[in-house]
Amino acid sequence: MRLADWIERERYLVATALMIGLALPALAQTPERKVTAGGSCLACHLQLDEARLHDPAAAFAEDVHNRPGLGCVTCHGGNPKAEDPEEAMDPKKGFRGAPKIFDIPKLCGGCHANDAFIKKFSPSLDTDQLAQYRTSVHGQRIASGDTRAATCISCHGVHNILKVSDPRAPVFPTHVVDTCARCHADAALMKPYGIPTDQVTKYRRSVHYEALTKRNDLSAPTCNDCHGSHGAAPPGVSSISNVCGTCHLQNMEFFQQSPHAEPFAEMGSGACEACHGNHEIKAPSDRLVGMGKGAVCAGCHDIDDPGGTTAAAIGASLELAVEMDDRAKAEVADAERKGMLMEDADVELEAANEELVKARIQVHKASLQAVVAHTSKAVSAAKKALEAAAAARREIRTRRAGLSVALALILIAIVALVLKIRQIER
Ligand code: HEC
Ligand code: HEC
Ligand code: HEC
Ligand code: HEC
Ligand code: HEC
Ligand code: HEC
Ligand code: HEC
Ligand code: HEC
Ligand code: HEC
Repeated sequence: MRLADWIERERYLVATALMIGLALPALAQTPERKVTAGGSCLACHLQLDEARLHDPAAAFAEDVHNRPGLGCVTCHGGNPKAEDPEEAMDPKKGFRGAPKIFDIPKLCGGCHANDAFIKKFSPSLDTDQLAQYRTSVHGQRIASGDTRAATCISCHGVHNILKVSDPRAPVFPTHVVDTCARCHADAALMKPYGIPTDQVTKYRRSVHYEALTKRNDLSAPTCNDCHGSHGAAPPGVSSISNVCGTCHLQNMEFFQQSPHAEPFAEMGSGACEACHGNHEIKAPSDRLVGMGKGAVCAGCHDIDDPGGTTAAAIGASLELAVEMDDRAKAEVADAERKGMLMEDADVELEAANEELVKARIQVHKASLQAVVAHTSKAVSAAKKALEAAAAARREIRTRRAGLSVALALILIAIVALVLKIRQIER
């Protein structure tokens, strides 16, 4: 029998085989994420009614540890092949039950401090969390038997632990505030320590929170960027009083050159907090400099001590430059509204603005000379813009005068014409 004849006769068989062949790869793919590492523990716990026993199994589908080799058994021990509960959860088979709070850091750290093991799964994952955690107030409190402080699962959750880059994770920048707030905004919980519980409320009013949540600027700090996630301070920062400098490099550099660096260090006051606070940092304004109402300098200096005198002078030099700049901006805008091209003046205004920005950063040196170096340039740029605006005003006046003369001549011509017409009519 020829092949074509056979295919013709057995066409239903062939079609079925083809369909199965085509469907097989699709069946082998599992598009939905399934629990792959639960064994009998998962199978049984999914069927239990009690939430405490059922929920951990149900949540595990999303857990970052849900992958071959990292099932329930890696944290709880036991035998995931046994169907019988006694056998599966036999302490003699290493079953440990639910870990006690004091054992959790060691449990998580058991893997997360094991560099060789972790790198097999995730080459870029750091393995310093446990070591760092032990230096933190949280780690020390837990180690001393205090159950109120945070362990790994207070911040990461458990059974639904997500990658830290997952926007749903409780440690994702936009959720950190809520995670810390659970304890730090709970006055009853924090009462024994006598520390404030207003950090969250204050932070939510800060320029940093606004940048993070309103402008989606993930480079703006939330709680753990300043305090560290695991350690007493973020890695690379010797003390939290230096943390602002990791992002505001120039302000820190200038502050360190200022007469404040030494006395502030001696007073044990953080470099930046003395003037900006820590949690409720607001967008600063020029009124903070000087000896006027609302100026931070006036909080520590008298007008007749050297610091106060300099502060007043710095404030005055900024005020003058800003006043000139404002006037120049207004006059240039006015000329533009009247139809004049003011490109050169705009360049000067831009330059004045840049110098003002620089002057405000130089305030951190607390040196009149450093600030004036920029305010004087701002003033001369603003002056040039003002001169351009004055020239534009003169030009407008000349043009108006020219226009009036032309109008008068036209009027005279019309009157003459009318008279002439009447004369002809008569
Ligand atoms: C056939 C069902 C079954 C199997 C299989 C099973 N469990 Fe359980 N598990 C239970 C029941 C029922 C309880 C509640 C027992 C109790 O309260 O004494 C429980 C309790 C637990 C608890 C809570 C213990 C505590 O201290 O409160 C943990 C953790 C646990 N199981 C983990 C596991 C792990 C890990 C495995 C697999 C190695 C496993 N279970 C296998 C039924 C099962
Ligand atoms: C990454 C480690 C880890 C893995 C993996 C893990 N657990 Fe747990 N489990 C814990 C910790 C830690 C606790 C204690 C939670 C607490 O104190 O709130 C716990 C508690 C439990 C409890 C007791 C809950 C209670 O409120 O008493 C059960 C039941 C449980 N786990 C079951 C499971 C099952 C089933 C799996 C697998 C599907 C699993 N766990 C996977 C770490 C883990
Ligand atoms: C006070 C809250 C808090 C505690 C306690 C905590 N973490 Fe974290 N953890 C975070 C935050 C926030 C991040 C994300 C930012 C980062 O990577 O620093 C993070 C990140 C991580 C990462 C990912 C690190 C990376 O390199 O991407 C791991 C792993 C981790 N934590 C494990 C642990 C372990 C293990 C413990 C307990 C020893 C623990 N964490 C305790 C808040 C916490
Ligand atoms: C059996 C070893 C083991 C234990 C125990 C363990 N982990 Fe993990 N964990 C891993 C591995 C491996 C990964 C990387 C998984 C991956 O990226 O696929 C991981 C990933 C993570 C991540 C995600 C990091 C990232 O990439 O963003 C966090 C957070 C985390 N673990 C926290 C914990 C916490 C909290 C505990 C304790 C409750 C814990 N782990 C216990 C092995 C473990
Ligand atoms: C489970 C509750 C809990 C969670 C969640 C928690 N903390 Fe704590 N934290 C505490 C307790 C309790 C202390 C001990 C207070 C003390 O000793 O002064 C503490 C201490 C601290 C301290 C030291 C305070 C001091 O005395 O100088 C800082 C800073 C801190 N936590 C920041 C954070 C940050 C940031 C987060 C979120 C990423 C966070 N905590 C999450 C309970 C928690
Ligand atoms: C811009 C940096 C920054 C951010 C963001 C920040 N802190 Fe702080 N925090 C500080 C500084 C600085 C201190 C003072 C430390 C000192 O004087 O030793 C402090 C002090 C604390 C303290 C000790 C008690 C107190 O009030 O003096 C706790 C607790 C704390 N912060 C929790 C938080 C929490 C929770 C968040 C998030 C809502 C947060 N911090 C956000 C910088 C920051
Ligand atoms: C993780 C990086 C980071 C850290 C740490 C940090 N900041 Fe910021 N800060 C930012 C970002 C981002 C902005 C928003 C910039 C913008 O949008 O104008 C900002 C804004 C500010 C502003 C307002 C600037 C303006 O022109 O309105 C001040 C003041 C400020 N921070 C002071 C501090 C102080 C003081 C600390 C330490 C207690 C600190 N910052 C810690 C990143 C950081
Ligand atoms: C002696 C008081 C004082 C100290 C200390 C101080 N600042 Fe300032 N800071 C000011 C004043 C005043 C302004 C407002 C200047 C203006 O707008 O004219 C300001 C403005 C700022 C601005 C906004 C202007 C800009 O540079 O973009 C930032 C950001 C800032 N400070 C960060 C810091 C940081 C970071 C530290 C610590 C290294 C710090 N400041 C220490 C007084 C201080
Ligand atoms: C937290 C307190 C505090 C604040 C706020 C403060 N200073 Fe000072 N300042 C000091 C101390 C302390 C010294 C060193 C002792 C002294 O000379 O009075 C000092 C010294 C100075 C000096 C050097 C004085 C000399 O002897 O030559 C100048 C200039 C100065 N401050 C300017 C400022 C300016 C400008 C501001 C506001 C932007 C400011 N200070 C805000 C505490 C402060």
